Amino acid sequence: MATRHFLTLLDIDPATLEKLLLRAIELKQMLRAGVPHEPFKNKVLGMIFEKSSTRTRVSFESAMIQCGGGAIFLSPRDSQLGRGEPVADTARVLSRMCDIIMIRTFEHEKVETFARYSSVPVINALTDSFHPCQLLADIQTYIEHRGSIRGKIVAWVGDGNNMCNSYINASRQFGFQLRIACPAGFEPDANLVAANSDRVTILRDPRAAVEHAHLVTTDVWASMGQEDEQAHRAKAFAQYQVSPALMDLADKDALFLHCLPAHRGEEVSEDMLDDPRSVVWDEAENRLHAQKALMEYLLGCWKP
Ligand code: CP
Ligand code: NVA
Repeated sequence: MATRHFLTLLDIDPATLEKLLLRAIELKQMLRAGVPHEPFKNKVLGMIFEKSSTRTRVSFESAMIQCGGGAIFLSPRDSQLGRGEPVADTARVLSRMCDIIMIRTFEHEKVETFARYSSVPVINALTDSFHPCQLLADIQTYIEHRGSIRGKIVAWVGDGNNMCNSYINASRQFGFQLRIACPAGFEPDANLVAANSDRVTILRDPRAAVEHAHLVTTDVWASMGQEDEQAHRAKAFAQYQVSPALMDLADKDALFLHCLPAHRGEEVSEDMLDDPRSVVWDEAENRLHAQKALMEYLLGCWKP
């Protein structure tokens, strides 16, 4: 069987994605109940981080420890990647020593190149273009609180960034309508929008996007690597803050998600994360369970 990779949500078919999230919910219950589960015994996860991380690193590393395996953290500062060793060479070497590899980097092409040369599964743990692991946790969280997301309305408020692009892919794979409210010049990938025009709408007014929505979500105005644009972006996005008052326009059962880290007073009001409609801490926890299910699938120790 060809090596399976997870570079975007489109790498796994919709039926399998749905089963994978049910598996994540099951793994969460097993952990809560103290059921020993060690499918990754003697397996090694290589973790390459070229950008900062709290949730992604800890969730992957904890997943390996809890499931009987181990994880090795690599950054450009302490590996030869930072001294110019080609990605293709690193991929060929690491995949002879690790059973599965995750990468967080800048250009999406880098994870594609890595996967091309890797003989073991490669997971995209965030690039400038996509953050598919976060979407597994987000959709798991919606399902746990409200059931299937199929046919629902999701509102994205803010930057058309890597998370927004992944929401577009999720709208396709999980079957929901996506309204994106962003300022002109900050739209998500144009090809992706065009390819999903039957389910994705770009708007300028956050209020119009959120009206009657079942899920509202946002992300920072300046992503990692865009620190120099912070001041300019703060101006452009000033009208794009999610607050309890904005949430009042949504469906009465609407939920709020944020991949975190959040900037209170910018994309979210000071009180948004503590609002009863916010489930961001469950969302963060679900990174652990969803990625366990993902690795079980990629390693072939769980069949959908
Ligand atoms: N949401 C997310 O990926 O968080 P980290 O940057 O902390 O990994
Ligand atoms: N869009 C953010 C997501 C962080 C998890 C970034 O890329 O920095």
